[in-house]
Amino acid sequence: MKSGLEDVVAAETVLSDVDGKNGRLIVRGVSLDDLVMTSRFEDVVALLFDGFLPSPPDLRAALGAARVATFGQLADAGALVDLPPVEGVRALLARLADGDDLPTALELVAAPAVFTAGLLRLKAGLAPIAPDPELSQAADTLRMLCGSTPSAEQVSALDRYLVTVADHGLNASTFAARVVASTQAGLTSSVLAALSALKGPLHGGAPGPVLDMLDGVGRPDNADAWISAALADGERLMGFGHRVYRVRDPRADALKGAVRMLAASGAIDPERLALAEAVEAAALKQLRQRKPDRALDTNVEFYTALLLEALGFPREAFTCVFAMGRVAGWVAHAREQAETGRLIRPMSVYVGPAAREAA
Ligand code: ACO
Repeated sequence: MKSGLEDVVAAETVLSDVDGKNGRLIVRGVSLDDLVMTSRFEDVVALLFDGFLPSPPDLRAALGAARVATFGQLADAGALVDLPPVEGVRALLARLADGDDLPTALELVAAPAVFTAGLLRLKAGLAPIAPDPELSQAADTLRMLCGSTPSAEQVSALDRYLVTVADHGLNASTFAARVVASTQAGLTSSVLAALSALKGPLHGGAPGPVLDMLDGVGRPDNADAWISAALADGERLMGFGHRVYRVRDPRADALKGAVRMLAASGAIDPERLALAEAVEAAALKQLRQRKPDRALDTNVEFYTALLLEALGFPREAFTCVFAMGRVAGWVAHAREQAETGRLIRPMSVYVGPAAREAA
């Protein structure tokens, strides 16, 4: 019995391969390093859906239409603004039809962006902005959030983020999606289960706390002392460590590149970047000293935090932005699992009391 199912193989997939020893991520035969240079989010959705759902002639237009179709759900969403954004998005997603066809899949990929931007605006006392189906998903997301036309660098940074997180092997949320899909429930049910798994701080809920850590450290010259005190208190440093990667998470580098690009365009405060680099260096040094047998390196969440902060997302909504990208993988995995026709049903070891004899 392995309580975290580590090293347990529970699915065959053609979708992505996480090579933890060499720090590589392959998405349908393309390494992440190449994918971020050559593909936009819509290309990656098409790549992941290929063979599992019919291909629309123009996926960008179909996704734009799906954004428009889901926008109506925000009309009576005012009561949800007091919930944490991820819970508001989950409540709105639960209203979508539970189909297993392309229209359902596209609405599920479109919806987290539409609902997150709309709920954040409602929370700020502003009206949600209707989607523009002509735009890319990344450009429209930023426009629906801020109400103005984003810069090319901002669009490119969000697009790179969505591409980077779109799929990642059998992570906890994808596994949750596949368990639900194995029961032959619909795609919406799978995505709701996956989003609920993503919400936890050990999975997709880490980047908000990364910013809390940066705020706590305050100045680069305080990094060593702060990290040392946190580790002495037994705390986990958010944005470090990974179940599978035993070297640096390749997604951290892809996102560090996007953060540097934003910094060059003046969209990130250089002092914030310097603070993050000092915290990363101090954390890596001390984690190596304290856990020499355990390779604990920077994970995807660390630079995600800086990137999403610079793009204007509030930290409590970071998990929703993660879902905007990862939903593409969830849907593809759910279709792949459903095609096997096999119910996922593992065993447990009973460690409770023996049956009592009847008196
Ligand atoms: N900071 C400090 N210590 C850590 C960290 C960390 N970030 N990560 C692991 N450790 C320590 C553990 O305390 C443990 O020490 P122990 O053996 O003395 O008890 C040892 O390293 C091994 O820990 P495990 O829990 O076995 O590591 P695992 O590989 O299961 O955990 C996880 C992976 C949950 C991601 C962990 O590294 C963690 O909590 N990181 C911080 C949260 C985070 O950044 N999550 C996002 C992950 S990326 C993603 O899901 C998209």
